[in-house]
Amino acid sequence: MKIIYAKDYGDMSRKAANIISAQVILKPESVLGLATGSSPLGIYRQLILWYEKGDLDFSAARSVNLDEYWGLPADNEQSYHYFMHHHFFDHINIDPARIHIPNGMAPDAAAECARYDRLITEYGGIDLQLLGIGRNAHIGFNEPDDHFSKNTHQVTLTQSTIAANTRFFEREEDVPHQAISMGMQAITQARKILLVASGEDKAQALYASCFGPVTPQVPASILQLHQDVTIIADEAALSRCPR
Ligand code: F6R
Repeated sequence: MKIIYAKDYGDMSRKAANIISAQVILKPESVLGLATGSSPLGIYRQLILWYEKGDLDFSAARSVNLDEYWGLPADNEQSYHYFMHHHFFDHINIDPARIHIPNGMAPDAAAECARYDRLITEYGGIDLQLLGIGRNAHIGFNEPDDHFSKNTHQVTLTQSTIAANTRFFEREEDVPHQAISMGMQAITQARKILLVASGEDKAQALYASCFGPVTPQVPASILQLHQDVTIIADEAALSRCPR
C-alpha cells in the first residue's frame, strides 16, 4: 500500500484527481469504478475543471459505481444515481450508455446483483477503482461482517452507517436501510485502487485497515492483499498511522 499524505481536503482531492486524470489520458476507454459521498466530491470538481479546460476527454471512458440505496428511484435527490449525475456525469462528456450504477428499484434484487457482476466481467474488470472509507472501515457498502461478500449483493446497512449518512437526508428515518453494493471480488480485482480519506473520524478505520489484521470485521483491511493500492489522506485521517 502506498500512503500519500495530503495537507488538507483540497490537496487530497487534487492529488487523487491527478491519478484519475493520468488513467484516462493513458487509457481513454478505462473502466472507472466510482464512489459517492463527501470524500470524492472535490475530485469530481477538479476533473470537471480540467475537462472544461480541454485537458480531459471522457468520451471513451466507462464507469461502474460501487453502490446504490435499495428502494430509491434514480430521480430521488438522495439516490446515488442523482448524486453522480449532479456532481459529475452531467458536467463531462461521458457517454450515458457507458454509465452504470446498480438499480435500486429493480424488481428482483438477486437478478440485479447478478446482472451487475456480469456487466463488470464483460467490461474486463475495473481499471481504476476509487474508494472512500466508512468510519467502520466499510468500502462500497461492504459492512463489517463475519465474512467478505464476494459478489454484488443486497446489504442491510449498519446503524453506524445509517447514522453517518443521515447528514444527507432531512430525517434519520428517511435513510434507506438497505443497499446494493459491489462485492469484494470486483473491487479487489480492479487493476488499481485509489482510496481517499479526510478527517479525524476516519483515523481509526484507516489505521486498522492499513496496519491491523486482515479481517471481514474491518472490510477495507482486505486491500492489504492487493498489489496496487494508493491511499491519499489528510493529516487528520492519517493521525493514527505511523509515518
Ligand atoms: C459511497 C461508498 C461509501 C463511502 C463511505 C465514505 O459510494 O461506497 O463506502 O465511500 O461511506 O463516505 P464519505 O466519503 O461520505 O465519508
